[in-house]
Amino acid sequence: MASGHSQLAEAALWLLLATLALSIGRSAAASASAPRVPAVIVFGDSTVDTGNNNQIGTTLRSDFPPYGRDMPGGARATGRFGNGRLPPDFISEALGLPPLVPAYLDPAYGIADFARGVCFASAGTGVDNATAGVLSVIPLWKEVEYYKEYQVRLRAYAGAARARAIVRGALHVVSIGTNDFLENYYMLGTGRFLQYTVAEFSDFIVDGARWFLSEIHRLGARRVTFAGLSPIGCLPLERTTSLLRGRGGCIEEYNRVAREYNAKLEAMVRGLRAKLPTLRLAYIPVYDAMLDFMTNPGKFGLENVEEGCCATGMFEMGFMCNDQAPLTCDDADKFLFWDAFHPTQKINRIMANNTLNDCYQQGVL
Ligand SMILES: *[C@@H]1O[C@H](CO)[C@@H](O)[C@H](O)[C@H]1NC(C)=O
Ligand SMILES: *[C@@H]1O[C@H](CO)[C@@H](O)[C@H](O)[C@H]1NC(C)=O
Repeated sequence: MASGHSQLAEAALWLLLATLALSIGRSAAASASAPRVPAVIVFGDSTVDTGNNNQIGTTLRSDFPPYGRDMPGGARATGRFGNGRLPPDFISEALGLPPLVPAYLDPAYGIADFARGVCFASAGTGVDNATAGVLSVIPLWKEVEYYKEYQVRLRAYAGAARARAIVRGALHVVSIGTNDFLENYYMLGTGRFLQYTVAEFSDFIVDGARWFLSEIHRLGARRVTFAGLSPIGCLPLERTTSLLRGRGGCIEEYNRVAREYNAKLEAMVRGLRAKLPTLRLAYIPVYDAMLDFMTNPGKFGLENVEEGCCATGMFEMGFMCNDQAPLTCDDADKFLFWDAFHPTQKINRIMANNTLNDCYQQGVL
C-alpha cells in the first residue's frame, strides 16, 4: 500500500516536472521568436567587458583558465573577468536574445551578430581619459567612436531605417566608474589626486558620465541603464590593502566616496531625464545589492563574501589568477567574488535580474 502511494506520488511528480519543462520550453521559444528589444549594446569596464581586451595590447586580460571555468557548455576563457557569464549576457538571454553578448573587437563575430548584441566595454577603463591610460585600455570616448563605426556598418548591413530602429529599440547597458577611483585617483599614478579633492573628482566623473549619456542619446540611444558604484572599499583587494595598513575589514573611506558619488550620479540622471524627454534612463543601485550579499550571505547561499575564489582570493586578478596558482576554490557559487575584484557568475545573474527589474520600474523597458 505504502509503496503504491509513493509510486503514485512519483508519477504525479514526473507529470508535474514534464508539464513545467514543457511550459518553460514554450516560454523560451516564445521569447526567442519575439525578443523584447532588438539588441543589447554594452559600454563600460571589466564588469561588462566580454572580450575586447583580448584584442588590444594590455596586460589586463583574462583569456586563460581558470577564467571562464563555469561557462555554459564547458570551460572557456573568453576574456570575461569571472568564472562564467557577465550581467549583459544574462540580460540579453532574458530579453530573448543570444545568451552571450559578443565583443566588438572579436574577429570571430560580424555585423550579423552585432545587430542583436554588441559590447564595446574594456576592462580597466573609466570615465576619465586618464584611467584608460594607466593600463593602456580603451578609453570611453573611443568606445563611443566604435559605437559610431558600428552604426555605419549596421546601416550598410540592415539599411538606414532598420539600423535606426535597432539602435533606438536596443537596451544600452553601461557599467563604469570603479577604476576612476581605485585605479586612478587612489593609486596616485595619474596626478588627479593633486588636481582635485575627492569630492571635486566625483563631480568631474559625473560630468563625464553626463557627457557620455548625452552623446549616445544624440547618436540614437533611447533606452539606457547606468550603474552606480558598489561598496568599493569592500572588494577583496581593498580589504587586503586595509589589512596591510594594519586595520582589516572594508576601507570605509572608499565606501563613503562611493555613496557620495552615487548620490551625485542619481541626481545627474534625474536632471538628464528632465532635459532629454526621449531618453529612457535608469540608474542601477548596485551598492545596496552588493551590501545585501555582504551582510546577509546566508540568504544567497554564500559562505565567503570577503575573498575571491581564485587563488588566495586576497589580491589575485588578471594574470595572477591562473591555473598554476594554488588554493582556487571548488565551488564558486559559495563565493561573492571570483577574483580579488570581480563577482562570481552566480552574483552576475542576480545583478542582471536586478537591472531588468529596475528597467521595468523606471520605465526603460
Ligand atoms: C578625452 O579625450 C578625447 C580624445 O582626445 C577628447 O576629445 C576629450 O575631450 C577628452 N575628455 C576629457 C574629459 O578630457
Ligand atoms: C528576479 O527578480 C524577481 C523580481 O524581484 C524575483 O522574484 C526573482 O526571484 C529574481 N530571480 C533571481 C534568480 O534572482
